[in-house]
Amino acid sequence: MNLKGVSFADQFLPALLCLEIPLKTILAQFDTDPLPSTFDQVAAIDAGVEQLFSYGSVSPDNVTGLVHGMIFTRGPADLKNSAIFVGGSDVAAGEALFRKVSKTFFGPMRVSIMLDSNGCNTTAAAAIASARRHLKLAGCRAIVLGSTGPVGIRAAELLALENAQVTLVSRTIDRAEAACRDVRTKLEHAQVTAANASLPSEFEALCQDSALIIAAGAAGVCFLESGALQRIQGVKLAVDLNAVPPAGIADISVMDKAVVEAGIVRYGAVGVGGLKMKVHKKAITSLFESSDRVLDLRAVYELALQVAGIGT
Ligand SMILES: NC(=O)c1ccc[n+]([C@@H]2O[C@H](COP(=O)([O-])OP(=O)(O)OC[C@H]3O[C@@H](n4cnc5c(N)ncnc54)[C@H](OP(=O)(O)O)[C@@H]3O)[C@@H](O)[C@H]2O)c1
Repeated sequence: MNLKGVSFADQFLPALLCLEIPLKTILAQFDTDPLPSTFDQVAAIDAGVEQLFSYGSVSPDNVTGLVHGMIFTRGPADLKNSAIFVGGSDVAAGEALFRKVSKTFFGPMRVSIMLDSNGCNTTAAAAIASARRHLKLAGCRAIVLGSTGPVGIRAAELLALENAQVTLVSRTIDRAEAACRDVRTKLEHAQVTAANASLPSEFEALCQDSALIIAAGAAGVCFLESGALQRIQGVKLAVDLNAVPPAGIADISVMDKAVVEAGIVRYGAVGVGGLKMKVHKKAITSLFESSDRVLDLRAVYELALQVAGIGT
């Protein structure tokens, strides 16, 4: 008590509460796997996130309370300091979670959100932005090997977005056709064709006359054997996203980054990975620019073009 019978708290707390205390940036990492990805945690911290809340085994069934905790604790004007990252190894589960989180927002009660399960969006965006550095994609004949995986189908969608004519390859024609339908539901006028192959010689034959080849097969899957690139007519650029030996395209080294050999520009997984990491960090940073950013595939691609210094 002071001399006038008013406590210190009564006297000074209201004034203290009026002080402008800078809010920390908080990223809530909702991972569909039991153990939240350390890769995504390191990338978040390196992108300057001040507080990272990591949750594992997050699903549409248990996420509502977590989202409410993020949107009801700060006033609408301050919500740009909070954001949500959805990740995990299961891309379909991540997409379902992303949709549920988005639906939980209402009016101004929302925070920016990003989806990058298994690095699918940042990897596909970095691969196609790398390609755009060298090739005019509109009208270009492109082929995606391993097109039915999370990375391949996104690479195909971005190529279609750029008005390329894209062949989506799978070992089974049904899966390739389903992938084409998936791209068309997102992009009605997508010029996409399905094809199937199983043997290296068949993959090579399908690649003939493609200016751009993207290999997005599972880790350790080789599509094109040594010497194939030089036998493929018309190829100008080839990107192999598989980092695990053997390479997806044997003529590309994992470290290749815009390496030109026999007139063909080559990128390996690590060569694309540098841009992918920059895009990932830029995306995290941009989550805190407003409370309503939705960093899905296309938004991440826009960022990738910016980071790569390519005008849209
Ligand atoms: N560089 C980076 O920064 C980075 C980041 C993330 C991922 N990656 C790499 O990107 C690649 C694509 O990732 P993802 O998660 O989309 O891959 P994924 O789902 O594991 O596989 C992609 C596709 O490969 C095909 N495939 C699987 N086994 C095959 C086999 N034995 N022979 C021929 N095709 C086979 C499958 O298509 P079908 O069954 O339809 O034939 C599958 O849908 C992976 O190599 C991954 O490691 C790189």
